[in-house]
Amino acid sequence: MKRTVQKILGIVFGVGLVAAAFAANPNAIIPAPVKAGARDGQFQLTAASRLLTDRELKSEGQLLAARLRLATGFALKIKSAKEKINAGDILLTTNGADASFGAEGYALSVSSNCVVIRAPAPAGIFYGTQSLLQLMPPEIFSAKPVPVMAWTIPCIDISDAPRFVWRGFMLDVSRHFFTKPEVERVLDLMALYKLNTFHWHLVDDQGWRIQIKKYPKLTEVGAWRKAIGFGLASNSATAYDKNGRYGGFYTQRDIRDVVAYAAARHITTVPEIEMPGHSMAALSAYPQFSCTGGPFDPDHDGGVYNGIYNVSDDATYVFLGNILREVAKLFPGEFIHIGGDEVPKETWHASPACQVFMKSQGLKNERELQSYFTGRIEKIVNADGKRIIGWSEIREGGLTPSAALMDWIGGGAESAASGHDVVMAPTKYCYIDHYQSTNHAAEPRAIGGFLPLERVYEFEPLPDKLAPEFDSHVLGGQANLWAEYIPNLRQVEYMMFPRLAALAEVDWSPKAARSWEGFQTRARLNEKRLELLGVNYRPLAKPE
Ligand code: ACM
Repeated sequence: MKRTVQKILGIVFGVGLVAAAFAANPNAIIPAPVKAGARDGQFQLTAASRLLTDRELKSEGQLLAARLRLATGFALKIKSAKEKINAGDILLTTNGADASFGAEGYALSVSSNCVVIRAPAPAGIFYGTQSLLQLMPPEIFSAKPVPVMAWTIPCIDISDAPRFVWRGFMLDVSRHFFTKPEVERVLDLMALYKLNTFHWHLVDDQGWRIQIKKYPKLTEVGAWRKAIGFGLASNSATAYDKNGRYGGFYTQRDIRDVVAYAAARHITTVPEIEMPGHSMAALSAYPQFSCTGGPFDPDHDGGVYNGIYNVSDDATYVFLGNILREVAKLFPGEFIHIGGDEVPKETWHASPACQVFMKSQGLKNERELQSYFTGRIEKIVNADGKRIIGWSEIREGGLTPSAALMDWIGGGAESAASGHDVVMAPTKYCYIDHYQSTNHAAEPRAIGGFLPLERVYEFEPLPDKLAPEFDSHVLGGQANLWAEYIPNLRQVEYMMFPRLAALAEVDWSPKAARSWEGFQTRARLNEKRLELLGVNYRPLAKPE
């Protein structure tokens, strides 16, 4: 479906025009649109400009008005799209939109007289407003009014729609905790680049971050550790309680707020409730659901990773089912991520109960035991009207019927070819917790590896070996930010940018329109925007 939209736009408008259009337009957009045709002349926004919107596009109109007001100081009136458009106005409407633009595509027309963003659905309108902002002087991203500025926009016609439906970013809030406003800032930054999926890694060995009403100890115990851990300086973070414990969690109200904040920016939030491994935090609170009975290091940082659920016990499924039911109610999206990576199967191997259980179920090895577990969890999640997605390893003992796979260490091509949806997040291209330089001394401490900007830009979400008839099962690509060595938001931003902008272009723009040279030019222009937004980006000029 999604590539059909681009095919239609490509045929009608000609993808080959894109590079030329951007050479002529210094205020270029990231991600590059499918088609942009610059025209002579310019539009000028003034204090008398109005925003005309359909009733159902009020939120998109308000977000645009708020952004414009910060930098221009203009309190633009928002009026009905039914009013006659005047010179200087901006119109946002679904009326008369071409359905072939799909759920996220849009047409943006800037003439010297007015601006019109037309799209079949609100998401497309929102993306049109993001493109519009990037056509304006970068000062439009200032947090306070910039005096003596002419707010001009070059005349242009853009027709645009994304290549992939899943344009993702994962933030690990377990290893280090980021507050609700910090998460909302991350969402704002994602939205600028038309990313639409926020994978919220809420649970891991080192912290359980989501309030579950039925099991309060998950956060009373599991959300806190004695110290920051990972050998980091205690003052590199601020997430301490009054007793000096490190951690934090989101109340269900916080979760709803973040989900709504994301939704207003057309971002779907996918919660990850990691299981059956990486579960030390949960099991330090409820050790009865483990294989060994515990005790588990309450600091979750002991390097002992036998914190794995006892999957032979029905009580474990009742516990996880109750958790997942609360989670399902908080997240309206289609998917719940259930983790599944790096399960320490030696613990199951050493567990008499698990061994007896495997025999009783005819399971040949612990990989099959994990698939058995995933299958039971899948049924629980499906009963709540959701689908599961899990890391590469959930396919090792056989992929369960409706599961989608998140490929970090393989299996994406094979899974797509067998009819499963996949999201591609291979470590080589998508792990933005890795260093951006081989000169580690010049960088903030990172987990290791080397992922320069150009490599992210080279990422191709469609696996080489996948036959084209299965392409539609590749939902898209995602960048992952694990936070072991990321104790604060400034460092999050440093790891995100500019690499997340490159990933956004990979996920959105037609492959044929991608140009590393062109991207670098636009990424340099984009630095001014990031600077005005106060983002701690890594400059392109800094040596790798
Ligand atoms: C992972 O990076 N362990 C999914």
